[in-house]
Amino acid sequence: MKLIEARIYEKENGAKILPEERPVFHVTPLTGWMNDPNGFSIYKGEYHLFYQYYPYDINWGPMHWGHVKSRDLIKWEWLPAAMAPDQDYDAQGVFSGSAVELKDGRHLLMYTGVQGQDNTPQCRQTQCIAAGDGLNYEKYEFNPVITGEHLPQGCSLSDFRDPKIWRDHKKQCFYAVAGCRTADGSGAVLLFTSKDAYSWEYVTMLDRSRNEYGRMWECPDFFEKDGQAALIVSPQEMRAEGLEFHNGNDVICLTGSYDSTQHIFTRKSVSAVDYGLDFYAPQTMETPDGRRILIGWMQSWESSRFHPEGARWAGMCTLPRELSFSDGRLIQNPVRELLKYWMHPVIHKGVRLEQTKKVRLSGVTGRTIDMTVDVRPDEGQMYSKFVIYIAENQEYSTRIVYKPWKNTVCIDRTDSGFRYHIVSKREAPVRCQAGRIRLRLILDRCSVELFINDGEQVMSSCIYTPGEADGILFETEGTAWMDVEKYEIN
Ligand code: FRU
Repeated sequence: MKLIEARIYEKENGAKILPEERPVFHVTPLTGWMNDPNGFSIYKGEYHLFYQYYPYDINWGPMHWGHVKSRDLIKWEWLPAAMAPDQDYDAQGVFSGSAVELKDGRHLLMYTGVQGQDNTPQCRQTQCIAAGDGLNYEKYEFNPVITGEHLPQGCSLSDFRDPKIWRDHKKQCFYAVAGCRTADGSGAVLLFTSKDAYSWEYVTMLDRSRNEYGRMWECPDFFEKDGQAALIVSPQEMRAEGLEFHNGNDVICLTGSYDSTQHIFTRKSVSAVDYGLDFYAPQTMETPDGRRILIGWMQSWESSRFHPEGARWAGMCTLPRELSFSDGRLIQNPVRELLKYWMHPVIHKGVRLEQTKKVRLSGVTGRTIDMTVDVRPDEGQMYSKFVIYIAENQEYSTRIVYKPWKNTVCIDRTDSGFRYHIVSKREAPVRCQAGRIRLRLILDRCSVELFINDGEQVMSSCIYTPGEADGILFETEGTAWMDVEKYEIN
């Protein structure tokens, strides 16, 4: 019943939201609220993505799973909601999880069922299964499949969630990682295995926070790429550390090596995944051509209560990103499929920028664009600041500020139109290159994703600036040269 109700409600209310009220190529909920992306997978040759969903309000509520699919990761089509909290074991919410295609042709979803009031000691979080045909899913009659009984001593029964399942082709079995709270109050990632995806055994604790990298670890993901093992987790209650980590809900990548026989992950380094203001709970999948693609929730819990006036949906996903490692460092770039949507190229080469003179370039405007700016200093002379103003008009702007002497890039959305006192600035450390930098900006109406130096750092942020503010300006302190290449995306 609850699922049918949700499907009727979302169909009726989703249709009332005009396309102009949404981004063009980013996933948003059909109606109401979304948080984490879930079940990112390929099924019968199409990409499927689910999301934490409360159709009835633009604020978080009892979680359902919303559903979209795509052929190219850029244009998404809504499908009816996939799951509702309609069983005893998930009555308080169908929390985050993942998906795989089974050999028998079904699509398997693995998720957390919440029973009992969330955030209380009485709450029970267990891992559950549903299987379906890409449209309709049936919950397994013997759910839950992983419970407190599987947990090592000291792990909390009420903070145990977000299973990420994958198939190991060589060993012909499934693995899943899930986050849990350990006895010291912080978080860990647990590894489970199964032959058939229904009956599970605990394997080991892959890594844990020991109160060093935040407390509860949510939404873990584990994969190998370019000779590196990577564990991505979303810790709650992080402590800020320089420019690398910020307070609160953050996302970190633990990089190291993995002994797949003994199941030992050896951590070598830890870094932030995104340095912007809105990024959490990402999840990855592998495409048939071997690319590792990540998609995140482009929102932060801290500012998710603040909606633009009249909003009928809340929360969106980032653009899917291709991951790679270079010198052990995570590199992220927009999926190459975006290039198919490039239109109306505007190219300016060798533009000279002089001390505090703001420059507008012909054809360089817009709010649904992919724009790359290459900056270099004037010979023998270093400039001290380079600024791009986006989503600009007389009243509004968001600034991207590069300081070569400090090796930082800052995004500042103070004047982007938020009417609330929320965090509006964040800075990322960038590679020192004697005043050279490449900034690729992707704007989609209400968001900006900035890829720095071919994906060495990424900064994702929402901006709720009125659409008519579509100006772009460039400015320096000192003299610099730049090339600009801009495409509309449609
Ligand atoms: C992360 C998270 C998950 C949980 C879900 C609930 O944002 O807290 O741990 O499964 O959201 O909506």
